[in-house]
This record gives sequence, structure tokens and C-alpha cells, in this order.
Amino acid sequence: MSKFDKILITGGAGFIGSHVVRLFVNQYPNSQIYNLDALTYAGNLENLKDIENSENYTFLKVDICDRDAINQLFDEYRFTSVIHLAAESHVDRSITNPFAFVETNIMGTLNLLHSAKSLWQDDFSNHLFYHISTDEVYGTLGETGLFTEETSYDPNSPYSASKASSDHFVRAFGETYGLPYVISNCSNNYGPNQFPEKLIPLFINNIIKKKPLPVYGDGNYTRDWLYVLDHAIAIDLIFKEGKNKQTYNIGGFNEWKNIDLVKLLCQQMDAKLGRKAGESEELITFVKDRPGHDLRYAIDASKINKELGWKPSVTFEEGLSKTIDWYLENKEWLKNVTSGAYQKYYENQYAN
Ligand code: NAD
Ligand code: TYD
Repeated sequence: MSKFDKILITGGAGFIGSHVVRLFVNQYPNSQIYNLDALTYAGNLENLKDIENSENYTFLKVDICDRDAINQLFDEYRFTSVIHLAAESHVDRSITNPFAFVETNIMGTLNLLHSAKSLWQDDFSNHLFYHISTDEVYGTLGETGLFTEETSYDPNSPYSASKASSDHFVRAFGETYGLPYVISNCSNNYGPNQFPEKLIPLFINNIIKKKPLPVYGDGNYTRDWLYVLDHAIAIDLIFKEGKNKQTYNIGGFNEWKNIDLVKLLCQQMDAKLGRKAGESEELITFVKDRPGHDLRYAIDASKINKELGWKPSVTFEEGLSKTIDWYLENKEWLKNVTSGAYQKYYENQYAN
């Protein structure tokens, strides 16, 4: 038996998860890949149309908050490893409804940990629980400095507090019960299939529609951006070669102030849409700031670089250009996810 035999990936219908599922299904034909997802507003099986009939792929529509259902699944399928991405993932939604974040991100993670421990406890060797986390658990940086794996946790939003808590539970299961685990904390991802509530796809959608671009506060907040496929490649590497009980920070070495990023996005989109230079920048609108808005995130990714040889493969300009092309070529996808409940979310979030 090996950890590669039956790999459970949670949240595989979401943005990052769908790229991870595709990579694993294609990369490991001798492994069974199980994609467990509750299909919340953020989950979309359209993201996986190209691999849905693969022999080594199974989709399981289950909510990780349902402890009995999760226990039954572990009994039935006897997964040999877990890569856990399912989560409520948007900071603004966590400000409006923190309870959903505690339920899914903390209780849901605990359910998975409990079931994995129960199934594997006779012999933990050849098993792995891999938790996908975020750099936001470290809180905020000032103008200088980087988050390392040794930076203390200091979360500021209900989202990051719930992810920090789930990381603590993963480590606690490692220390208390001997559950083999790794955790990675990644910076902001962007790329195809991201739900248009996060900065880049929201603004791409608004530029297409010539709607205002709502920049929070003065726009001088900084994020470190990583192309989603580079994150998926890092996850594969950590799954294969990461050491038990280790944390790996993953980042793009790519810091942008929001306002500069938005201007670059406007320039690239004007060129691709055949609009006159400067046209989309006129849509920029400064709006009320996000409460508890973290000033700056930036990752020191030297550990994964030195130990596992990983580095981003795509420059930001290339990644952004590919991302815009994907949204322009997949207008139907964008239309489907922005119909219905999205309109209501948008009105509530961006009402003054
Ligand atoms: P996403 O919101 O696009 O996808 C989340 C997926 O989880 C969806 O398919 C959703 O249906 C599923 N899900 C939500 N609640 C569930 C539940 N109770 N049971 C089962 N499935 C459920 O998120 P994403 O951006 O792809 O992020 C994936 C993971 O990576 C999250 O754990 C997030 O914290 C982490 N992460 C994200 C980023 C980022 O920039 N997006 C950066 C670092 C880490
Ligand atoms: P987001 O994509 O929500 O990711 P996170 O909050 O997890 O970093 O936001 C990225 C940055 O963009 C963040 O500083 C908030 C800002 N932002 C806006 O200015 N306007 C928006 O409409 C959104 C969604 C985000």
C-alpha cells in the first residue's frame, strides 16, 4: 500500500482544487483520485469537464461538515491520503457570515482529521494528510519583511482565523495521535476558473461589461500573486516529497499594490478588447475599505525552493495575459456563474 493508491482531494470542484484534480488524474494513472465537494456557490463541475470520464477519477458530492457521511466514506473507499482544499475562501464573505467559516474550515477539517486518524491509526506509515492553507494566517506585514515558516500566526479576518485554527488542529493531530501531515501556506492565486468575487476575475468581468472597478480604500494594499498552475505543481511536489510535520510557504516572489495591478489589468484588457488606451482605467472607483484590511502579504518561498527545487514558472505579465484570454474565451462559464445568486451577493457587497 502507498499514499498514492487512493487519493482523496477535497474542494476539487473549486478554483485551485480543479487544477490540482486535473494534474493528479493525468499525472497518476495508477492512482484512484476521489474529488469530494459539496458544490457550494464556489464549486463547479464544469471546471473538470475534460477529465470527468477518466477511469481513475470519481466525484463524491458530500459536505465535509457531515461527520457521519465523512466517516462512512472513509470506511467505504479506504483512502490512503487526503489533500484538503475544501473551504469557505473569501474574506469579504467571512466578514458577513463568519459562522459558515467556522463550520466548514474548522469543523469540516476536524471531521476529515478524525476519519483519517480512525482509518489509519493501526499503521500510519504510507499515509498522508496534506492541508492546503494560506499566508493570511500570518496576519499582516508592514512595508518590509516577508512571511517565513517560523512567522507566528496572527490572523485578522474571520477567514484567516478559521484557516489558522484548522492548521492548529492538523498539527495537533500530528503531535497527539501521530497522524502524518504536511501543511502549505500559499499567497494569492490567480488564473482560469477563479470565481469572480476575488479581485482579478471580478475586475476582468467588470471590465468586459464596462462596470465600475471597486478598489477598496486607497488601493495601496499589497498582495503576492501566484499563477494557479504553479501552486498545483508545488502541491504535487509537496505531496510526493514533503517531509512529515513540515510546513512549506509557497509564493510568487511577485508583490503588487492593488492599484498598480488593476492598472496593468486595464492596460492588457484594453489591448485585447481593441479599446483605446486608458479607457478601462476610467472605470476605477475607490470605495469604502474592507474592515480589518491586511496591508501587505509577502511570502519567503526559499524553503520550498531549496528543499524541493520549486519556483514559479510563469511571470505575472504572462500569467495575467493567459488568465484574461481564458475568461474572454469562456464567456459562457462566466455567464453561468454570475447569474442567479451572484447578482444578489454583488448588490449587497458593493452597496454603499
Ligand atoms: P474556492 O472557494 O474556489 O473553492 C472551494 C471549494 O470547496 C468549492 O468547490 C466548494 O464547493 C468546496 N466546499 C466549500 N465548502 C465545502 C464543504 N462544506 N464541504 C465540501 N466542499 C466544500 O477556493 P480556492 O480559492 O480554490 O481555495 C482552495 C483552498 O486553497 C482553500 O482551502 C483556501 O483556503 C486555500 N488557499 C486559497 C488561496 C487563493 O488565493 N484562492 C490562496 C492560498 C490558499
Ligand atoms: P481578494 O481577491 O479578495 O483576496 P484576499 O483578500 O484574500 O487577499 O482581494 C485581494 C486584494 O484586493 C485585497 O487587498 C482586497 C482588494 N479588493 C478590492 O480592492 N476590491 C474588491 O472588489 C475585491 C474583491 C478585493
